Amino acid sequence: MAWSIGAGLEDRGVVVTGAAGGIGRAVTQAFASAGARVCAVDLDPSQVDAVVAALPDPARHLAVGMDLLRLDEHERLLQRVRETFGRFDVLAHLAAILLRRPDLDAITEEDWDCQLDVNLKVTFFLNRAAARLFRAQGRGGRIINFTSQAWQTGGFGGSIVYAASKGGVVSLSRGLARTLAPDGITVNTVAPGAADTPMLYGMPPESLAAFIQQIPLGRPASPEEIAGAVVFLASDHARYITGATLNLTGGQLMY
Ligand SMILES: NC(=O)c1ccc[n+]([C@@H]2O[C@H](COP(=O)([O-])OP(=O)(O)OC[C@H]3O[C@@H](n4cnc5c(N)ncnc54)[C@H](O)[C@@H]3O)[C@@H](O)[C@H]2O)c1
Repeated sequence: MAWSIGAGLEDRGVVVTGAAGGIGRAVTQAFASAGARVCAVDLDPSQVDAVVAALPDPARHLAVGMDLLRLDEHERLLQRVRETFGRFDVLAHLAAILLRRPDLDAITEEDWDCQLDVNLKVTFFLNRAAARLFRAQGRGGRIINFTSQAWQTGGFGGSIVYAASKGGVVSLSRGLARTLAPDGITVNTVAPGAADTPMLYGMPPESLAAFIQQIPLGRPASPEEIAGAVVFLASDHARYITGATLNLTGGQLMY
């Protein structure tokens, strides 16, 4: 085994969802730098086109604009990846939404449905579609789902529905890890605390300052610092890791 963070990822077929987002863009770049071929997926086709166009040798990669709420499109997406890259090895699933409301009373049924659907329902159906293709290929596979430190804290006030959806992602990933292990498929989650992306800055400035003050490392993570952990979990070095939740909170939570 080569001793580099991207060991084993050369020419692997990787899908990154939420690829036009703050962290997803860095994850896409990190996989491409490790030599993988990346399918960048997000809602707006022009944004994913731009993410792929900015990679060295864009023709090795694929940009797909789609709404992942179209569950019936998941299988077609993954088949396209296999046909284009000749193989499908890694799903890094970042796409999510956070609707931060001022308090509990401001949360609507629509908020509930939307966050649970995008954050949790899509995760289950996309993970299952990936697992089916991994099983058919017979070479195992890697799934890295995105939760949040809120999975453990439960969030607060108007953000607890997001927190509950992210708690569901951890629970779901643990169940899938146990179920899919006999097929050599690992399923792990990464749990950022504060990461320096637009999602973080949806918070009122005074709450944001208080939040950052609680971080022992004293600052939010850069998207690249989160991306390194994702590449590690997809690499040969993480072959024996499954069902784990990687705490990327700068020490704000310790578990
Ligand atoms: N930024 C943070 O501080 C932070 C903290 C904890 C967890 N996270 C998690 O990290 C991940 C990435 O977050 P980010 O900060 O890059 O957020 P972001 O909002 O910048 O990116 C999320 C991306 O998901 C895409 N998306 C949403 N719904 C979609 C759908 N139905 N179909 C396809 N794409 C869809 C969005 O278009 C967006 O580009 C998310 O899962 C988020 O919950 C972020």
